[in-house]
Amino acid sequence: MDKLLRNLLFSFILVMVSVAGKGYAQTCSTYQFRDNSVYATCIPLPVLNSFLHWNYHQSNHTVDIAYRHTGVSTSDWVTWALNVDGTGMIRAQCLVARQNSSGDIYAYTSPVTGYGTQLEEAPLSFGVPRISAEFRNNEITIFATLQLPTGRTSFNQVWQLGPVSGGTPLRHALDADNRRSTGTVDFLSGQVTEGGAVGPSMKKRNVSHQFFPSLFF
Ligand SMILES: *[C@@H]1O[C@H](CO)[C@@H](O)[C@H](O)[C@H]1NC(C)=O
Ligand SMILES: *[C@@H]1O[C@H](CO)[C@@H](O)[C@H](O)[C@H]1NC(C)=O
Ligand SMILES: *[C@@H]1O[C@H](CO)[C@@H](O)[C@H](O)[C@H]1NC(C)=O
Repeated sequence: MDKLLRNLLFSFILVMVSVAGKGYAQTCSTYQFRDNSVYATCIPLPVLNSFLHWNYHQSNHTVDIAYRHTGVSTSDWVTWALNVDGTGMIRAQCLVARQNSSGDIYAYTSPVTGYGTQLEEAPLSFGVPRISAEFRNNEITIFATLQLPTGRTSFNQVWQLGPVSGGTPLRHALDADNRRSTGTVDFLSGQVTEGGAVGPSMKKRNVSHQFFPSLFF
């Protein structure tokens, strides 16, 4: 019974995400990148003015992504992350972009290990051979290539934004949308879901916590 309810809820969320997605489809698929890059898939993420564009290469299990976050300024940090063996913020393998002390938008990787994170730069649990970012028309876009962990194409994802002060990312707001910016992405099928979980974390998941993500992410 519990399982049935969960499946119903899951289907409902899938439908809601696809309905919500339709309204933004134009903004997604017609977007022109400055270098005329073309991505086979684009999904508007359900909250926080974010879009995920990607090309998945089955031959080498890499994905080229462009994560766009609209309506931001150069005093914001933005991040998009895969969480390979968890959900939400803890253990999120983040791609981060923010202004650095030279005043340029700078992109780097940051694995989150605890709630006190200041998004310090360090390697992720999987390879990221290429990462860069640009700020244009009040949008920050992070471009990166990810060497995906083997054996799967579906992952938990999380995305976020917050303020930068004195070169340090500060804690983000805790509005409803900042708490809802998690879900799953399947790079092969092109499916995204809101709030669900895939992978090893699924079994450990405490369903009653599902819609109350942690403080920072
Ligand atoms: C992966 O393969 C694709 C084509 O199949 C190629 O364009 C791309 O450069 C490769 N990526 C890496 C990181 O080797
Ligand atoms: C800031 O980022 C730019 C672009 O990545 C880089 O060229 C520059 O060296 C960085 N400055 C500092 C102080 O890290
Ligand atoms: C799940 O979370 C609730 C609320 O915090 C708690 O009461 C319950 O014991 C937890 N269940 C498991 C299996 O961890």
